[in-house]
Amino acid sequence: MAEPKKLFIKTYGCQMNVYDSERMAEAMGAQGYVTTETAEEADMILLNTCHIREKASEKVYSELGRLKPLKTLNPDLKIGIAGCVAQAEGEEIMRRAPVVDLVVGPQSYHRLPAMEARVRAGERALDTDFPAEDKFEHLPKRPRPNRAPTAFLTVQEGCDKFCAFCVVPYTRGAEVSRPATRILTEARDLVERGVREITLLGQNVNAYHGEAADGGTWGLARLIRELAEIDGLARIRFTTSHPNDMDDDLIAAHGDCGKLMPYLHLPVQSGSDRILKAMNRKHTAADYLRLIDRLRAARPDILLSGDFIVGFPGETDQDFEDTLSLVRAVGYGQAYSFKYSARPGTPAAERAGVPTDVADARLQVLQALLTQQQRETQDAMVGREVSVLFEKPGRLPGQMVGKSEYLHAVHVTGEVAVGQIARVRITGTAPNSLAGALI
Ligand code: 5AD
Ligand code: SF4
Repeated sequence: MAEPKKLFIKTYGCQMNVYDSERMAEAMGAQGYVTTETAEEADMILLNTCHIREKASEKVYSELGRLKPLKTLNPDLKIGIAGCVAQAEGEEIMRRAPVVDLVVGPQSYHRLPAMEARVRAGERALDTDFPAEDKFEHLPKRPRPNRAPTAFLTVQEGCDKFCAFCVVPYTRGAEVSRPATRILTEARDLVERGVREITLLGQNVNAYHGEAADGGTWGLARLIRELAEIDGLARIRFTTSHPNDMDDDLIAAHGDCGKLMPYLHLPVQSGSDRILKAMNRKHTAADYLRLIDRLRAARPDILLSGDFIVGFPGETDQDFEDTLSLVRAVGYGQAYSFKYSARPGTPAAERAGVPTDVADARLQVLQALLTQQQRETQDAMVGREVSVLFEKPGRLPGQMVGKSEYLHAVHVTGEVAVGQIARVRITGTAPNSLAGALI
């Protein structure tokens, strides 16, 4: 029998790309491809790209420069660009980089197998359509068993919010929610394949409003409550959310739905009302803090995460101080912070940014504060009992690693299996994980 062809996918960016990469690998699996971890032995390389911050396309071109010699070693090697850079700059990539054989956008990758066939026949192929058909309906069935006891499930794509700095509404397009019945079917299938924790994904996941079997529309809270009815599914998470879409039912679900984990990634971007307005966020810092109070009233131990941008055009020292005050008021368990980067085509790109050295200094101060809060949150876990879903063996012999309800990585030494949920007492903390003992 002929050797199967090998596919190497390099994934950049968010969890939605991680999910898309898995589905692309499965689609190519139906074409006889197996995945490999080494670019050197691949017959097809896909770069699943991210466009959210600066130098996205530069990164792609320099990666292509590194990959180009592989084509001399293996004349049958084909190289493709997928993801949001493909969507935004696909035609230019085709022009500038002859080494690229195919470009496929995030809404059309179910057509990859047909594109691969064209490419094997010597053509170059570009597809960045937003097709009328639902790509999820045209992807192969997922393999069994699942690779891990945790899985991502995309429920919503695109964004209608148009934050002034963000390319997502342009690269991923308008908000689309998948029908609830399809999501329930996919979730049941994941559980039958051994998955115990599902993270619902969407660029603006809490704006979910999917068609239900009864002809009505479900919001995210209703979807979560229905998913919680699935036997064998132990944990539900969702990401990423916008503060303005945290409705009453979703806040309540954090209190009354036992399978919904006490962790929420809720980006606010800035603590200054002036900057929030300039960002077109359509909420104030006080609105956000009130929301956090309501979430904590529903679920007192909820661990909060966020995203921040420093150096947005017009940001003054006072605006930045307001961001620090908000961070102190919330107390994040962990958070991400970025230096603003002008993205072509977005409204903010027209405005003058703050000097780089100022933005760099602010980023350092903010990151130090967020790191300190993360450390305090982790320290406070020591001595507490958590439940851990074990995902894989750890680095040391006899060690197993999993995630607590709060999404902390926890490692223990002892007899537990992958996929098992066990009670653990936290005994110590490291920079990005916790140590524990099985109870
Ligand atoms: N510059 C810097 N950070 C950005 N983000 C999105 N667009 C930009 C940009 N132009 C950040 C936001 C968002 C996260 C995914 O990336 O904080 O929440
Ligand atoms: Fe981008 Fe999120 Fe704003 Fe949508 S809500 S425009 S994805 S930052």
